Amino acid sequence: MTTGWDKTTWRQRPRVQMPDYAEPETLAAVEAQLAKYPPLVFAGEVRRLKRSLAGASRGEAFLLQGGDCAESFAEFNADIIRDTFKVLLQMAVVLTFGAKVPVIKVGRMAGQFAKPRSAPTETLGGVELPSYRGDIINGFDFDATARRPDPARMLQAYTQAAASLNLLRAFSTGGFADMHRVHAWTLGFAEHEKADRYRALSDRISDALAFMEAAGINGATAPELAKVDFYTSHEALLLEYEEALCRIDSTTGLPVAGSGHMLWIGDRTRQPDGAHVEFCRGVQNPIGLKCGPSLTAEDLKLLMARLNPENEPGRLALITRFGAGKLGEHLPRLISAVREEGAHVVWVCDPMHGNTIKSPSGYKTRPFDAVLREVHEFFAVHKAEGSIPGGVHFEMTGKDVTECTGGVRAVSDEDLSARYHTACDPRLNATQSLELAFLVAEELSDRRAALAARAG
Ligand code: PEP
Ligand code: CO
Repeated sequence: MTTGWDKTTWRQRPRVQMPDYAEPETLAAVEAQLAKYPPLVFAGEVRRLKRSLAGASRGEAFLLQGGDCAESFAEFNADIIRDTFKVLLQMAVVLTFGAKVPVIKVGRMAGQFAKPRSAPTETLGGVELPSYRGDIINGFDFDATARRPDPARMLQAYTQAAASLNLLRAFSTGGFADMHRVHAWTLGFAEHEKADRYRALSDRISDALAFMEAAGINGATAPELAKVDFYTSHEALLLEYEEALCRIDSTTGLPVAGSGHMLWIGDRTRQPDGAHVEFCRGVQNPIGLKCGPSLTAEDLKLLMARLNPENEPGRLALITRFGAGKLGEHLPRLISAVREEGAHVVWVCDPMHGNTIKSPSGYKTRPFDAVLREVHEFFAVHKAEGSIPGGVHFEMTGKDVTECTGGVRAVSDEDLSARYHTACDPRLNATQSLELAFLVAEELSDRRAALAARAG
């Protein structure tokens, strides 16, 4: 067990971005109830994900992490889960083909309910109320009752996460994830008149699958083609919830967060002495650390020492989110810090959170071009520095929303109001997500060549 740590030691550290619950008895009752519930994920799965991520740190696998900015209680049904899962699988097939290594599939799903906010309160028409902090904490509606943090929401979040995971597990192994089927969906996208750039790659995947089929390799003879390993992740922001779901792994005797396979620490809660780092350092799960422009090399070194003292490969993913045009300024100094420490990390690109703008029509949006540029710079800087780009992290949905501008089926500024449904940040829609996967696949073909050249 990590020295000086138990699942409650975060309570002695400064906390930010967490609610002050008004009724301690209600909170304690909810915590006690959650602590009795079964964990949502199991230690063996967490260990398997960590092994896969260790491969990603060496360039032998690639991480695809994606899903909602914030899951919501209102937008909860089988279709939404299925559609996001489906697009993630489509993206994964395209990326696998580009990278020629396994793609590790991790949803921002079944637990992504708590949000850090830039301001503690929101003022509308002269009325000031606490900010919305995600459905696990308070309600979206702008009224005093909805905005009051309510501990009972943790129970609803748990139930929703459990039902989501149940469906995801069924989809992963029950035939839905068959690679032939997944690729057949992608063909529809590649037929779009403006998608000819992607058709060639899509046709090559078709050929590879047809060849395997002819050679007798299909879902029946090779079960790997018919099912997938799928993992869940979320920001470990609401530590009362995380603590209540923390369990001891009976195989190793070590603590594991039972709320999701992988947890990450947000860019606003990564203070080396703060509560969030304290909680995450003691659980065995893979941990993501969001790295924004204000992260110094010194703090990164401290954080790596705290979060991965044994330098275990696959334990720590550094999820960089600087904004297009800023990677040349920030990424090399972090790469140097990692190199100086001889640290094993998975470098992951989040091209969403540094590229949020207010559109002329007033919506919070992200231009597809900026997202793409950040991805491109990520690969270019790692290539120049001789480090390994290990994954991507997107906010996306399988629904045909209009929240980010651009893409093959161009969403314009005027279109944003049509289907703007996010509870928090703007997400890529299904076609934008898939298009991005094709573009990342091109970068990955290049990565493959670079890694081969380095191996000599
Ligand atoms: C997020 O991933 O939704 C988020 C808030 O990210 P960051 O901490 O990088 O701003
Ligand atoms: Co977000």
